[in-house]
Amino acid sequence: MPNAFRGVIDDHLERVNWEQAKADLAADDFDNGRSASALRRSFEQADHVAFAWLDGRLIGMARLLSDGVSNAYLLDVWTQSTVRRRGVATSMVGQLVTAVPGQHIGLQTDDAEPFYASLGFQCQPQFMSLVVGGWLDNAANR
Ligand SMILES: CC(C)(COP(=O)(O)OP(=O)(O)OC[C@H]1O[C@@H](n2cnc3c(N)ncnc32)[C@H](O)[C@@H]1OP(=O)(O)O)[C@@H](O)C(=O)NCCC(=O)NCCS
Repeated sequence: MPNAFRGVIDDHLERVNWEQAKADLAADDFDNGRSASALRRSFEQADHVAFAWLDGRLIGMARLLSDGVSNAYLLDVWTQSTVRRRGVATSMVGQLVTAVPGQHIGLQTDDAEPFYASLGFQCQPQFMSLVVGGWLDNAANR
């Protein structure tokens, strides 16, 4: 791949400027309403995280919840639009899945099915969900 990602993938939460990250997500139309501190807590409290860095800038992130035994859930997978289709998300998700051998990983996506399919994920109907009360109406986001 001539334009392949040549940056770094790590799990260094302390490197992330969460205000900047929230602004970058919003600029990419991928802000689901969490405050910068709530976004930070979502990642801090995840079981596994992956960040992609290019020239010192955060250009991708992803996180995985896991019970450490059988089940995991993949969330917040994002690559900055300027560096897509260069393998960034493949590298991040690849790092996360190696942390949960033998586990069943679920996720929900509106329009990134081709990406997840490229990694071997298969549709498994039906996904059901419920928001308890109002979306993000909780102490963590105030
Ligand atoms: C989905 C997303 C994370 C993919 O990130 P990425 O770093 O561009 O992904 P990769 O470069 O690793 O893509 C790997 C493969 O996935 C598939 N793929 C990725 N994006 C695709 C697209 N828009 N259309 C079709 N296939 C796609 C391709 O097979 C690609 O390989 P190729 O480029 O050699 O053809 C990115 O588009 C994104 O951040 N989208 C907005 C946020 C979002 O929807 N996140 C998912 C929430 S569930």
